[in-house]
Amino acid sequence: MKTKIQTLREEIAAASAASAEEVEALRIKYLSKKGLISALMNDFRSVPAEQKREIGQALNELKSYAQERLAELRDGLGCSATAALEDLSRTPAPMALGTRHPLSLVREQIVDIFRRLGFTIAEGPEIEDDWHVFESLNFAPDHPARDMQDTFFINRRPDVLLRTHTSSVQTRTMVGSKPPIRIICPGRVYRNEAISARAHCFFHQVEALYVDRNVTFADLRQALLYFAREMFGPETQIRLRPSYFPFTEPSAEMDISCGLCGGKGCSFCKGTGWVEILGCGMVDPAVLEACGIDSHEYTGFALGMGIERITNLKYRVNDLRLFSENDIRFLEEFTAAR
Ligand code: DAH
Repeated sequence: MKTKIQTLREEIAAASAASAEEVEALRIKYLSKKGLISALMNDFRSVPAEQKREIGQALNELKSYAQERLAELRDGLGCSATAALEDLSRTPAPMALGTRHPLSLVREQIVDIFRRLGFTIAEGPEIEDDWHVFESLNFAPDHPARDMQDTFFINRRPDVLLRTHTSSVQTRTMVGSKPPIRIICPGRVYRNEAISARAHCFFHQVEALYVDRNVTFADLRQALLYFAREMFGPETQIRLRPSYFPFTEPSAEMDISCGLCGGKGCSFCKGTGWVEILGCGMVDPAVLEACGIDSHEYTGFALGMGIERITNLKYRVNDLRLFSENDIRFLEEFTAAR
């Protein structure tokens, strides 16, 4: 009996398993009711009385050793103690999927709306030169936007800088291509601002540009109305206010009716019933000419908006810092919008 116990112990010590099934097979072989250890337990009855104490102890030790050894083999496989007994046909536990960043969501919504109007995506570099960001867009040499206080310069003379707006993609695209041009340009832009709830040193814009024969302000207005209603709902009203940008003439800023109060006036729209969402206008002939496009033959409209601003209006995110803090609790709020 003693030798049998010893042999079994050595066998169990040498056992190995490559899968949960193999561990289970070992359990059946040694520890189940009909297993080898139970068989020894049955034989125990015929052990002479004076040996019962010693053998009994050895048997119990063998059983605990077998249990420990199997647990060890199971752990080595990286499966839980109950894994071998689990129903493998059950529905798997839901996998935690990541969420889209709210700015990506909104960028895609904007791009998608313009895509339906026939616009295609164009991109440009974030590190730009003065010509594409300022000069080609009609900024006077002493325009304040060219100041170090607004622009991050990487190098001066020749000027290498981080683009302050996506309008640079307009001129990048226009140079060397022939109208019709219908592009939408999403991208990151940089400005030398102190970080607060309302300002950040980087943010995101989407620019749209349409150049062709006979493009008029009415086309711009219709595209804007379509965009506003697709983005903010069919009841949305738009309003264009005269404004100024160096690269458009005439220029306008667009407001939409406040989605919170429906235009009646509330604290969100500061009682006006309107909230500003973007800048736009007819491409200044000087910009077309700078890019080699005949301004007597062609006209165009352009518009630019901040993605953070649209996201704020759509999802009421009113602290810009939330977008770059990567707080998982904030990001998970957009799971449903995925
Ligand atoms: N580039 C402007 C800005 O950064 C936004 C803008 C205004 C873009 C009017 C345009 C436009 O294309 O027509 O504030």
